[in-house]
Amino acid sequence: MKKVNLKIKDKIMLMNMGILIPVITFIYIITINNLYSNVIKSSIDFLTKESYNTQLYIENYIEKDQDLDAETSFINKGPLINTYLANKLNFRTQIYDKTGNILSDSVMNNLNLYNEDITDSINGNKAYVVKKIDGNMYVLFSSPIYFKNVTLGCIRYIYPLHSGQEIINNMFVIMGIIACLSVFISWILSRLFSEKIAGPIKELKIVSEKIAKGEYDNKIEIESGDEIEDFAKTFNLTTESIKNYIESLKEEKQKQKNFLDNVTHELKTPLTAIIGYSELIPRLENKKDVEDSLIYIKKEGRRLLKLVEELLELSKIGKAEFNVDRNGNNLCEVIEEALNVIQLRAKKYDIEIIKEIFDTNLFIDKDKTKQVILNVLDNAIKYSECTSIIVKMEEKDSCVILSIIDDGIGIEKNHLDKLFEPINGVKKVNSISKNGNGLGLCICKEIMKKQNGDIEIYSEEKKWTSVKIIFRKSY
Ligand SMILES: Nc1ncnc2c1ncn2[C@@H]1O[C@H](COP(=O)(O)OP(=O)(O)OP(=O)(O)O)[C@@H](O)[C@H]1O
Ligand SMILES: [Mg+2]
Repeated sequence: MKKVNLKIKDKIMLMNMGILIPVITFIYIITINNLYSNVIKSSIDFLTKESYNTQLYIENYIEKDQDLDAETSFINKGPLINTYLANKLNFRTQIYDKTGNILSDSVMNNLNLYNEDITDSINGNKAYVVKKIDGNMYVLFSSPIYFKNVTLGCIRYIYPLHSGQEIINNMFVIMGIIACLSVFISWILSRLFSEKIAGPIKELKIVSEKIAKGEYDNKIEIESGDEIEDFAKTFNLTTESIKNYIESLKEEKQKQKNFLDNVTHELKTPLTAIIGYSELIPRLENKKDVEDSLIYIKKEGRRLLKLVEELLELSKIGKAEFNVDRNGNNLCEVIEEALNVIQLRAKKYDIEIIKEIFDTNLFIDKDKTKQVILNVLDNAIKYSECTSIIVKMEEKDSCVILSIIDDGIGIEKNHLDKLFEPINGVKKVNSISKNGNGLGLCICKEIMKKQNGDIEIYSEEKKWTSVKIIFRKSY
């Protein structure tokens, strides 16, 4: 069987019409039937009353006629009495003798009608039948005529129901019009009402489709004051929590990406140093230099191992974030270690390193600070094409500022602000061509912020670049 898909609106309309039309038809039939019964009843009442008058009239008439016996008198005078009664009542009357033969009919065609009522009335009962004669309705009412308790015959009134039928017909039309009007009005109301129900549901459908496409900012505004409004509120809450959940997932994803960037960068620093020293060793003639290089390789190797262990630890506890581990450290020592790592590379490019540093104890993460300094020095060597790098410490207010200044090509003014952003087109082109990732400065900023410090970069094109690494003396 084919499934019929009806819309809610159509279902409501169908239900309303399905109830209304049978109810109206029922009321219609009952009313017309009642009306019809009332018309007949009032006719019968009238004819019953009239039959008593006729009985009296005929009784008097026979009493006066003393020459003949009652029965002969009734038979003889029947036609006269009938004519009188028909004239008086203004409708057709008939008189029958006690055997059921017609004695007189006020209408000449003498057409013999149904006689069920006649048989009954000759037997002493008033009786009636309702019949359609020549397209019109009539009540055929028969009443026995007595004289001194002897049945002489009966009188039959053929009472037309014209006026009653006219009322019924009018009523039929009026009620028909009222019924049609009620169906029409109720059809319009049902339509309006069903639209009120179906409208919010349609809106719900549209918004849920948008949400399915990922447009979570959509909200349903329904003020129908019913269950649909409650549902819309719950729906909005659900959407909100889905949106929050998705945002937290995105955040988590971004965090993981940042973490991966940080990890690779952190791993890159000791690896660069190790590779640098390994390449240098075969060219060294001085035994002391070889030993020093091996010490550095070992140190950086250990740092690498420590990083990997830290990474494993973090993965074990499900945290995608490196924490800075701040302790009291001499910044001067950290700078020296970083300089040691790049020293050979600087020598290779004929870059002179000028140090203006002093001992100062700061509350910092040693390895991460070294990573920051190394990246800045590495950038100067890699990108600036400089001849000298000044590494200068100074104290200002409650800060210690480490400036790393090179006399290289500098950086375009409009690129300066973007250097600390993780994704930057300009930076990327430069970085990739020089074997970099373009993440170093962004990670340095993050590390310094975590240590309650900061990093700033100033430059004049074709002249110099100065990177200021700021440490706060307070905890
Ligand atoms: N001293 C400098 N002189 C000239 N350009 C510089 C200097 N320092 C940084 N830059 C520019 O800034 C960019 C960003 O440096 P950053 O340290 O963030 O990334 P990277 O060194 O390319 O990659 P990574 O450090 O991740 O290996 C470089 O690509 C370079 O163009
Ligand atoms: Mg770098």
